[in-house]
Amino acid sequence: MADTFPIRDIDHVRFFCGNAKHTAEWYRRIFGFDIIAYSGLETGSKNEAAYLLQQGSIRLLLCSPLVPDHPIAEMLGRHGDFVRDIAMEVDDVDEAFAKATERGAEPAYEPKTLEDDFGKVRIAGIKTYGDVIHSFVNRDQYSGLFMPTFQPKNRPGNSVGLEFIDHIVGNVEWNGMNKWVEWYKNVLGFEQLVHFDDKDISTEYTALMSKVMQSGNGRIKFPINEPAEGKKKSQIEEYLEFHGGAGVQHIAMHTSNIIETIKKLRENDVEFLYVPETYYDDVLDRVGQIDEPIAALKELGILVDRDDEGYLLQLFTRPIEDRPTLFFEIIQRKGAKSFGKGNFKALFEAIEREQMRRGTLERA
Ligand code: FE2
Repeated sequence: MADTFPIRDIDHVRFFCGNAKHTAEWYRRIFGFDIIAYSGLETGSKNEAAYLLQQGSIRLLLCSPLVPDHPIAEMLGRHGDFVRDIAMEVDDVDEAFAKATERGAEPAYEPKTLEDDFGKVRIAGIKTYGDVIHSFVNRDQYSGLFMPTFQPKNRPGNSVGLEFIDHIVGNVEWNGMNKWVEWYKNVLGFEQLVHFDDKDISTEYTALMSKVMQSGNGRIKFPINEPAEGKKKSQIEEYLEFHGGAGVQHIAMHTSNIIETIKKLRENDVEFLYVPETYYDDVLDRVGQIDEPIAALKELGILVDRDDEGYLLQLFTRPIEDRPTLFFEIIQRKGAKSFGKGNFKALFEAIEREQMRRGTLERA
């Protein structure tokens, strides 16, 4: 099938943070990102400070408003630190923006050219769920590091082996999943990969539904979750309440050696979801032979799942902020193209235990 909306790949993920300076250092020390560029008052950026972090091909852009009336300041107060922009690299920004808005996307900002001694970057943005936007970026005419006003910064981290973004999950409002699935289909030419209903994703108490959307070239995967009715309050409802509406729930980052990656992250004191040891009692019956020693997986709390094409290993951090909102997934794929359906029940029970501790499992 022809790709009706060519996107090269995710360009970067832009966060708004209360204090980007601190946050950048946290990602460097805890997750091993290099801080490679900076933009702020000293470099000619009047309204916001920004730090560009990189590990493998993953680029995080951490921004903070510099002035009280910055347009994002109010959103930041409402959501806490949040993912504002999942930016995509395209061949032609104007064409992408024109096509997306013709197909019903609401503009976030009109196409514009940013220019300095290194050349030109063309960018434009459209709105998606919640307060999230997709910028379109093209820097084919640019020889600088990232964008005008950014200056190189050399603060390397100790890489933990993160390579690329595997998928980014959005939590949307009640009954919003199909609306946003259609939006990604119609506006950005994505296709639906899989669908999990509340029977796939439920425990005794809580449930959710999810559909996975994929870009034309298969490089970008966006699962979209909505809450489903259960006896108690699901993690998606909890997210929507604390985030103040729809937003990015988790970013999955790929490694080709999850045992080494998780070892390093645990040494750096990253907090992961606790999976009970009994999970490992029957794991080999469920997934069959795997290359990794079960003892190592058990020690590090790494989960395994298999589909028709192979298996995958994965692990989830606890929420990385005080609010129970954004978290990260570390994933290693060994053939499997799925998302760990066999782990959903164990995972959601683990999340419910955390919700119980937060007092957010019971409906008020
Ligand atoms: Fe995931």
